[in-house]
Amino acid sequence: MKKIVTVMLSLVLCCGLFAGCGDEREDEGIKSATYDPSKEQIVVATNAAFAPFEYTVGDRFAGIDMEIAKGFADSLGQELVILDMEFDSVVTSVGKNGVDIAMAGLTVTEKRKESVNFTDTYYNASQMVIVKADDTTFDDCTTADEIVAKLNVSGVKIGVQAGTTGESFVRGSADLGFDGLLNAQCVAHSNAGLAVTDMKNGNVNYVVVDEAPAKNLVGKIDGIKVIDIKLTDEEYAFGVDKAQPDLLESLNAYLKGIKEDGTFDEILSKHFQG
Ligand code: ARG
Repeated sequence: MKKIVTVMLSLVLCCGLFAGCGDEREDEGIKSATYDPSKEQIVVATNAAFAPFEYTVGDRFAGIDMEIAKGFADSLGQELVILDMEFDSVVTSVGKNGVDIAMAGLTVTEKRKESVNFTDTYYNASQMVIVKADDTTFDDCTTADEIVAKLNVSGVKIGVQAGTTGESFVRGSADLGFDGLLNAQCVAHSNAGLAVTDMKNGNVNYVVVDEAPAKNLVGKIDGIKVIDIKLTDEEYAFGVDKAQPDLLESLNAYLKGIKEDGTFDEILSKHFQG
């Protein structure tokens, strides 16, 4: 009898556990292997505060880039090591301390090409503005120029993630051809979620971040909305260690394969549903 009760109890517990997982997302995320220089491993640098491209589920990693990283490592029969770091260290970490690839919703830029070899691009992106839900400032805007005119005003504070193209858009960048919003004040945060918190607390007026993460934040955090007008034209790619041209070639071949066999679209639609 005791046995039966125990079995039933475990069953109930198990169901509860699975239901819990379902709430998070269908997948349980990817566990990073421990870095071991004596092993053949794929070591990926990321900043896992950029859903739906990379985020954490407990001590696991999930998101579009992380799934591609795992699939690629599996295809080579190697363990995947994921190193989660501040975004502004991601590109410069490549080629040092065993880091092979930057996978971080990374926009291709000329400056970054000095540090990494970019793969073929896999996603088109652009900066967007997040505002408080009751903010009507941009209601009558229909073009990027109209938005910029309202952002580029003295006294306006704009939150961004440090080291991103969003920051370059606000501060200006010759490399990217951004004039900058030089009348406004740029406030750099460790990630876009914290920038949004800062906006809700009244410390910045707006947040500029990539479209998909902007929409993801709006879905998760109450009291904010996104102004659905593209401010920039960017493309994501992975940044590979310049000393490993073969790795660049195999990652490009892997990307091509998953684009052709439908795996890539499956990963995208899974992370963009609802
Ligand atoms: N696409 C932007 C850039 O390359 C933002 C990327 C931020 N990525 C992240 N994982 N936090 O600068």
